[in-house]
Amino acid sequence: MILCRTRRELRSRLRQFREEGSATALVPTMGHLHEGHLALVDRARELADRVVVSVFVNPLQFGPEEDLERYPRDLDRDRGLLTHRGADLCFAPSVGEMYPDGEPRVAVDPGPMARSLCGRHRPGHFRGVLTVVARLFGLVRPQVAVFGRKDFQQAVLIRTMARDLEMGVQVETAPVVREADGLALSSRNILLGEDERKEAPALYAGLEEALRAFQGGERDGSVLLSRIRSSLEGKSCIRVQYAELVDPETLEPLSSAVPGAVLALAAFVGETRLIDNLELL
Ligand code: PAJ
Repeated sequence: MILCRTRRELRSRLRQFREEGSATALVPTMGHLHEGHLALVDRARELADRVVVSVFVNPLQFGPEEDLERYPRDLDRDRGLLTHRGADLCFAPSVGEMYPDGEPRVAVDPGPMARSLCGRHRPGHFRGVLTVVARLFGLVRPQVAVFGRKDFQQAVLIRTMARDLEMGVQVETAPVVREADGLALSSRNILLGEDERKEAPALYAGLEEALRAFQGGERDGSVLLSRIRSSLEGKSCIRVQYAELVDPETLEPLSSAVPGAVLALAAFVGETRLIDNLELL
């Protein structure tokens, strides 16, 4: 697998791919890779001839009080995993390489869909995400890019950006990969203490509890959300930031549940903020 640390090296390698007539898939990540990321690499390999994975902890998407410094990083390990999984190229720029003139003067405005869910609690986050993803799309010029549904709002916003700004990139999504106990894989799980790790699967258990109620005929959104909250009661490490029922395309809150609607949840488990979601089917 090729490792590129600079945009210049990246461009020259990508030129070779294009000369061979290869279609390229991009998988953007912030590294500290796990099976959730690697499942995106597998999907990307099905969709294109060449798979490019970016590993970049993007400072633009972290708020001043957030965990940019704590965010785990291990490029050697990531390289090994990507080689083993059959990625063709890993682009791992430094912050200075990615933003040579400091913070970009022009950024992507994520619009009204970034005002709900995570966006309400993380001002500027999606502006930072869309700006780096637009930049990666511009650098790599992939035919297709693959994102996880674990970051449900992010995937919706990226798909909308690519469509509304005619970026010519097909945005694909892949399902949430979980631990055996239901906890969604996340690079941040490593930050959990022992007791926190024991309680964390309750997030998914709460979503499942609400799903069971939906499958049993319950349609009242507030009843479904109260199922989530009550199943988290008594978990001393968990503090819910939001639990909402939303339309999967517009992200508007729904007062009554329909098939395809999404239950989305964010919670602090100790100091670590985790998110999860479940589609009602
Ligand atoms: P990161 O959190 O590293 O996630 C990279 C990709 O992996 C995202 O598309 C995310 O949804 C997906 N992913 C993470 N955990 C997953 C899981 N358990 N199952 C399935 N997919 C999972 O998301 C980001 O980085 C950044 O915001 C980024 C898009 C790279 C922009 O900086």
